Amino acid sequence: MEFYSSPFDDNDYELFLKKLIKHFNLDLTGYKQHRVRRRTDLLLRKHRVTSYSEYFDLLKTHKDIWEEFLDKLTINVTEFFRNPEKWEYLKKEILPDLIKESMGNLKIWSAGCSTGEEPYTIAILLNEMGNLNKSTIIAADFDEGALKKAKEGIYDQKTLINLNDSFKQKYFNKLENGNYQIKDFIRKRVNFKQINLLLDNFESNFDLIVCRNVVIYFDTEAKDKLYKKFGDALKKNGVLFVGSTERIFNPKDFHLISIAPFFYRKN
Ligand SMILES: C[S@@+](CC[C@H](N)C(=O)[O-])C[C@H]1O[C@@H](n2cnc3c(N)ncnc32)[C@H](O)[C@@H]1O
Repeated sequence: MEFYSSPFDDNDYELFLKKLIKHFNLDLTGYKQHRVRRRTDLLLRKHRVTSYSEYFDLLKTHKDIWEEFLDKLTINVTEFFRNPEKWEYLKKEILPDLIKESMGNLKIWSAGCSTGEEPYTIAILLNEMGNLNKSTIIAADFDEGALKKAKEGIYDQKTLINLNDSFKQKYFNKLENGNYQIKDFIRKRVNFKQINLLLDNFESNFDLIVCRNVVIYFDTEAKDKLYKKFGDALKKNGVLFVGSTERIFNPKDFHLISIAPFFYRKN
């Protein structure tokens, strides 16, 4: 259990959380509160304000400060083929069975897709396996700015670090400024949606749900609620793929069984 004692006023903070819901539709219930508060306090200091209400006024009037707040809270860090060996495992050991069972008509969801690297990684993998055109790929995040960037599909070198030159050539157009844009035949296969994983209802019948590096921000109750929703949203024998520092300790509670580190099958 982590503790954090804030130097700022507790009542003002409670009010701040309520105002975030009312004004920005951002509900932080379910997030690790010590983490949210610590990060918010750092921003108060950075902007040299001494109360949450003053900081809230800044959020309302300065788009860049609002974006910084969201960024510091949720962290959009991602890359193509993040933890490459896990994607290799998915390709070799998981996808062939899923493709067979669904007769190629895979329904896949990248939940918490950030700026799009993860769902485009899925599309590239499926293309390599000759199964892209029959598959449906949905990608969701609650961060509007991240989704906008994802739809544009323009990336700098850094996020392509796990791709060799031949993959870069095959899947990206190099732009004059040195950035890379994902080719249209991949971009068009991903359907981006704005969804809050803690509040919104989910579609169902997924063969594969990829939710990586998202629940690290959630408290145990929110995590359990989310895993239950994922369990319900998967087809029988569908697979949940989680992040490399994440582990579900009680998978049976969600009708899931562990089939390999970071992979769970619905039974
Ligand atoms: C660190 S990124 C992970 C991106 C990608 N899944 C990966 O592993 O590289 C976490 C993403 O989760 C999103 N996120 C956090 N809470 C969310 C929620 N309640 N609903 C939807 N998305 C959320 C953030 O906006 C952020 O884009």
